[in-house]
Amino acid sequence: MNTSKLLLLPGDGIGPEAMAEVEKIVGFMNDEGVASFATEKALVGGSAYDAHGEAIADADMETALAADAVLFGAVGGPKWDSVPYDQRPEAGLLRLRKDLKLFANLRPAICYPALADASSLKPEIIEGLDILILRELTGGVYFGEPKEIIDLGNGQKRGIDTQVYDTYEIERIARAAFELARTRRGKVTSMEKRNVMKSGVLWNEVVTRVHREEFSDLQLEHMLADAGGMQLVRAPKQFDVIVTDNLFGDMLSDIAAMLTGSLGMLPSASLGAEDPATGKRKALYEPVHGSAPDIAGQGVANPIAMIASFAMCLRYSFQKVREADALEAAIAEVLEKGIRTPDIMAPGATRVGTVEMGAAIRSAFRGKLAA
Ligand code: NAD
Ligand code: IPM
Ligand code: MN
Repeated sequence: MNTSKLLLLPGDGIGPEAMAEVEKIVGFMNDEGVASFATEKALVGGSAYDAHGEAIADADMETALAADAVLFGAVGGPKWDSVPYDQRPEAGLLRLRKDLKLFANLRPAICYPALADASSLKPEIIEGLDILILRELTGGVYFGEPKEIIDLGNGQKRGIDTQVYDTYEIERIARAAFELARTRRGKVTSMEKRNVMKSGVLWNEVVTRVHREEFSDLQLEHMLADAGGMQLVRAPKQFDVIVTDNLFGDMLSDIAAMLTGSLGMLPSASLGAEDPATGKRKALYEPVHGSAPDIAGQGVANPIAMIASFAMCLRYSFQKVREADALEAAIAEVLEKGIRTPDIMAPGATRVGTVEMGAAIRSAFRGKLAA
């Protein structure tokens, strides 16, 4: 079996707590001989800033570039609120996304049957939900220039961020959306605000053309992003794949997280383009949630988003479909048994912490692999 290089970047707050549970799963897979992972670990975010004065060290960026896949926990926290903008914890994550060219961020939102009651929405609205938000991750207002605060000299300042999209950026994310939809229910909803944004006009034009020229057998619909947010909570099951820009995708995926019961449930995969020579793509897997400073250090964080992100890693980076299916089925089984961290607690369920939830999933995973 070829050995694959995994870089673990636990980060700050609950990041290391959730990552520890994935590390145990990786160790278990190595011990059982179902995988051969060589893991390295490095600092990112506030912990990296404390150690090196920057949110990710250059040497660790090199390791990330050389890895077969990167697993990322979470970064940020009040401790670093006043560090300079370019060194703040989040800058480490943005640099990883940009330098690894991870333009496609897959954020699936699945409502596990056992959690239909954990959402703030009525069970019938979300039962059976299985949608995928595809967020463009290396463009838009996150990276557009100019991006600055200028002093106007009259006691006023001006904060500027720039939303920019070029044709090629929209084409490649649109293709990714249609290719994903082809493996699902064949429907793509593109969300922008073409009524007020020029980049939205171009987005709409390019997605429409890519659909007409290359994917006309699939269904495409357009929705203004504000109305899309409303529809996501009104009738989320109408969607299959939602494709949208970096900022709208950030917000819409937090909304989608609550359809699944908790932000602690939502995994993600950030993928680059396939290298035609090797057939491989750069990839980083991270939960959608942040470092959750309000619960960090208490041992109560839900590790499922992190563990499900590792399942996506097994599926997309290592084609270990059987193992990915088994890990996802293990999560479902544990939830069916009523084992719950506080964020998804329900009457009559068994309340556990991060470590117990990880152990329960590992034990169910062992059973699924043996079956
Ligand atoms: P957050 O996602 O950290 O937390 C929002 C709420 O969800 C909190 O109440 C938290 O306790 C809860 N929550 C989140 N994950 C959970 C889990 N796994 N289990 C149980 N409850 C969970 O968002 P925030 O509070 O807005 O941001 C905190 C910090 O995290 C900020 O510095 C922000 O920039 C950063 N952040 C980082 C990432 C990332 O690293 N990918 C993502 C989002 C936010
Ligand atoms: C996310 C986070 C990040 C983002 C932050 C931490 C930079 O909110 O991954 O959803 O805004 O993209
Ligand atoms: Mn976010």
